Amino acid sequence: MSSWAGELIGTSRCFLQVTGMIPLLSKSKSTVLIYGETGTGKELFARAIHYSGERRGKPFVPVNCAALPDHLIENELFGHSKGAFTGALIEKPGLFHEADGGTLFLDEINSLSLTVQSKLLRVLQDQEFRPLGSTKSRKVDVKILAATNTDLRYLVETRQFREDLFHRLNVLSAVLPPLRDRKEDILLLADHFLKVYAKEFGRGAMTLGQSAKAKLLGCAWSGNVRELEGVVHRAVAMASGELLEAQDLDVPENNLPESAGPTMTLLSRGLMPSEGSFQEMKEKVIEEFEMAFLRELLSTHHGNISRAARAAKKERRAFQRLLQKHGLDRRTFSAA
Ligand SMILES: Nc1ncnc2c1ncn2[C@@H]1O[C@H](COP(=O)(O)OP(=O)(O)OP(=O)(O)O)[C@@H](O)[C@H]1O
Ligand SMILES: [Mg+2]
Repeated sequence: MSSWAGELIGTSRCFLQVTGMIPLLSKSKSTVLIYGETGTGKELFARAIHYSGERRGKPFVPVNCAALPDHLIENELFGHSKGAFTGALIEKPGLFHEADGGTLFLDEINSLSLTVQSKLLRVLQDQEFRPLGSTKSRKVDVKILAATNTDLRYLVETRQFREDLFHRLNVLSAVLPPLRDRKEDILLLADHFLKVYAKEFGRGAMTLGQSAKAKLLGCAWSGNVRELEGVVHRAVAMASGELLEAQDLDVPENNLPESAGPTMTLLSRGLMPSEGSFQEMKEKVIEEFEMAFLRELLSTHHGNISRAARAAKKERRAFQRLLQKHGLDRRTFSAA
């Protein structure tokens, strides 16, 4: 495996399953769609695909589709000819041109407008594009990798994303698991970042004490690897000694549901932790929370599942599965 794939730290089964696809994904000419929550390593994974393949000597060009408004993104991607619009004093080649022979990484592709989507579709179909204001098309050989943190199928269903473009992009796909599904990688990653930042700050070898390890393992990590990296980075910057303990790790409060949260909730319901195993009690609290949350949400949105799911930032299908799990019928909450 190339050195790039080696930079992806993790030995959990679900992680190895997805990184094991890198050789195949890098060999193929097809577009790859990379799914994953924020901070799960989508860009690192995309780089691994590029640098493991034959295109490694050519540019890897990342572009964040969410960071630019519609009119600018077209200009960024396709460039413009001289005089294409007021202020276009010189020709600008655009990112497709820059990535010729290499890879264009379209991050947060879910946020592209329908107009830009249709232009992108044309480039994917014909491997050629026309800069703004130009009469001539340009041929390019660009491998497209795209990333999204929302389910594109849902956006297709709700007509926010073109179905034909979705199928073009989704030829090959990879799903990066969230950190909570690969807990065995947490300490491995923490040690990796400890080494990286100890070196950056010119410190000697630093280690994690037992309490620090327990704290890291108990976190929910909604921001995934990026959040874990930030916690270790801060700890190395602030710590005075070589050994880090729990108090050296500044983990945001809302990231500690498995420590303080459930116990407090149990106590507030008059349930004593000694009445069941940790797992049983935890499940009980989660069940109760889910039920109350869903009831409240459905009643606010008068049984409208799409709106309720959107408000909860959940995919519609996943939301429906939750309702089924709790035996809730949306009609009970409809206004009629
Ligand atoms: N498996 C991993 N091994 C080592 N570092 C990782 C791993 N996964 C992620 N990282 C690091 O975590 C940070 C976030 O990764 P990356 O930017 O690739 O995530 P992302 O999914 O693109 O995030 P976002 O959705 O926020 O754009 C980066 O600094 C990256 O180097
Ligand atoms: Mg990213």
